[in-house]
Amino acid sequence: MLDGHLLQGWLALALVALAWIGPTAAYFGLTGTEPLTILPLTSETEEAAVKAYYKVCDRLKLERKQRRMCRRDPGVAETLVEAISSSALECQYQFRFERWNCTLEGRYRTNLLQNGYKETAFLYAISSAGLTHAVAKACSAGRMERCTCDEAPDLENREAWQWGGCGDNLKYSNKFVKDFLSKKSNKDLRARVDLHNTNVGIRVIKSGVETTCKCHGVSGSCTVRTCWRQLAPLHEIAKQLKQKYETSLKVGSTTNEATGEGDISPPKKPNPGPSDQIPRTTDLTYIDDSPNFCRMSKYSPGTTGRKCYKDKNCESMCCGRGYNTQSRVVTKPCQCQVRWCCYVECKQCTQREEVYTCKG
Ligand SMILES: *[C@@H]1O[C@H](CO)[C@@H](O)[C@H](O)[C@H]1NC(C)=O
Repeated sequence: MLDGHLLQGWLALALVALAWIGPTAAYFGLTGTEPLTILPLTSETEEAAVKAYYKVCDRLKLERKQRRMCRRDPGVAETLVEAISSSALECQYQFRFERWNCTLEGRYRTNLLQNGYKETAFLYAISSAGLTHAVAKACSAGRMERCTCDEAPDLENREAWQWGGCGDNLKYSNKFVKDFLSKKSNKDLRARVDLHNTNVGIRVIKSGVETTCKCHGVSGSCTVRTCWRQLAPLHEIAKQLKQKYETSLKVGSTTNEATGEGDISPPKKPNPGPSDQIPRTTDLTYIDDSPNFCRMSKYSPGTTGRKCYKDKNCESMCCGRGYNTQSRVVTKPCQCQVRWCCYVECKQCTQREEVYTCKG
């Protein structure tokens, strides 16, 4: 699923491609200082391009069906890589002040995904949201072969304005993501919770869609408007999912043993209290209480050496072990003023800054 190293893999590929152009240039007697021109692609380079994106699909460690979908066109491979790196970045940004900072290095991620923690819930939701977002954007940007812009909505929604522009294709991306992430039906509780959280991610994208319009006509009179649907930035989506993570609900199983059919519901307790809510389709859900992520474990490298903010999160991040204070001098732009027209002028200020890091 998520893989922070994938982007690096992608960059490495690009570098290999560059290295590959080198000898070709030498062959044609070029020196490398000629102005850049667009060379006609030979069938040889086309073949190399195909192999390059097949290689990307192989590196993503996909399941059989997913790999088939990845290999359908270079746009899909590129979109998957983009989805993975943007979800990972958003996850790390949202958790930058937490003990678990979304370290996704191999074994930590695998171990987290094998459990039903709140963090697992967030990972499932941000992954599906990131993928839905990336596919819808790739469609409207013309990067995928099988989809284009969002089409006109139902006729009743058409008023004095035209539906036009190039909207983000949520319909296609929904279908793609459901297909891509669907597994052989597995009815155990964890599988149901994972699916539930995956759907929360897709739903958040859907509810963030806005209609954007542009006016045309004499001096902006707006006699004609073109409108299209646009997704909220993934950054906003990640923020919403982080809030859902904070308020996620613990669930247990109400499985009918005879049929294996079941639903997720609050865990059974001898005396159910009023706080036991039935999870809605918009709530993130989890099964197990999270580890504390304080010390190195199979789930995280722990918080030793992490930078924290005094009076804000040092106490909690360092798990009561205390923190080291380091003083350093930094130079920053300050007293900035906007000059007519149109630049900003700043002074350089030198100040002392304290840096706090968690003790081991
Ligand atoms: C997360 O924390 C670990 C130490 O616990 C650190 O090595 C790593 O660089 C941090 N990752 C990010 C993305 O901040």
